[in-house]
Amino acid sequence: MIDLHTHILPGIDDGSPDSGISVEMMEMMIAQNVDTVVATPHYYCLDCSPAEHAEKAKGAYRRFLEAWQETHGEDARLPEMRFGAEIYLVNSLENVSDPELLKISGSDLMLFELPFSGFHGWMPRLVDLVAGKAGGRPVFAHIDRYLGMLRSGDLEELEEVPRAAFQFNSDAFKNRKALKYMYSLIKRGKTVFWASDCHGARHRAPDLGETLPELKKAVSKKFSSEIFDAIEERQYSLLGKDRQI
Ligand SMILES: [Fe+2]
Repeated sequence: MIDLHTHILPGIDDGSPDSGISVEMMEMMIAQNVDTVVATPHYYCLDCSPAEHAEKAKGAYRRFLEAWQETHGEDARLPEMRFGAEIYLVNSLENVSDPELLKISGSDLMLFELPFSGFHGWMPRLVDLVAGKAGGRPVFAHIDRYLGMLRSGDLEELEEVPRAAFQFNSDAFKNRKALKYMYSLIKRGKTVFWASDCHGARHRAPDLGETLPELKKAVSKKFSSEIFDAIEERQYSLLGKDRQI
């Protein structure tokens, strides 16, 4: 199982505050059979460049790894780690150089976070522009969280962004509105991802391994199990991996 959106790296954003919590979060993910963890710290282009962001993430990962090895020994098994960013969408993102450094490592995927303040037509255009510059494939982060705000026309504009994928947070897997939209994307052959968007070990803790089986059950009432398998296979292949069973 892939957790595509996490704030597991310590002391870098509003996610894990320190290495000890990151170690706890990782232990939870391993217990839940997550085999690929994508670290996606928040990226605000007004605060730093993509290169600085990547450096910060590397440093945070080093701190985590030290703590992990201290707790579990040097040979302790870790899920595969990938690194990216949750890229906050603001106008000035247009002028950022080296946006390709924000792609999820080993893939073309770029995770974009829409503002909660309202939808504007420049948003899908900017996502397309930045992803295009980076040679990336955009993923709209936690699309479920905007369903109360976005009108169907707004969603259509997001769906028209070339190669766009849509990520749902695990805490929305029981939400009827979110499920309805997820089903409609699946039916239309759009790419969906699932993720915990975890920020800590207690509050907003990793829970994908607990919630995904429930989602699978819900999905199986609508679709054949082959469809669920195909979605997972596609998620792995977009990360350049074979699906682990
Ligand atoms: Fe997030």
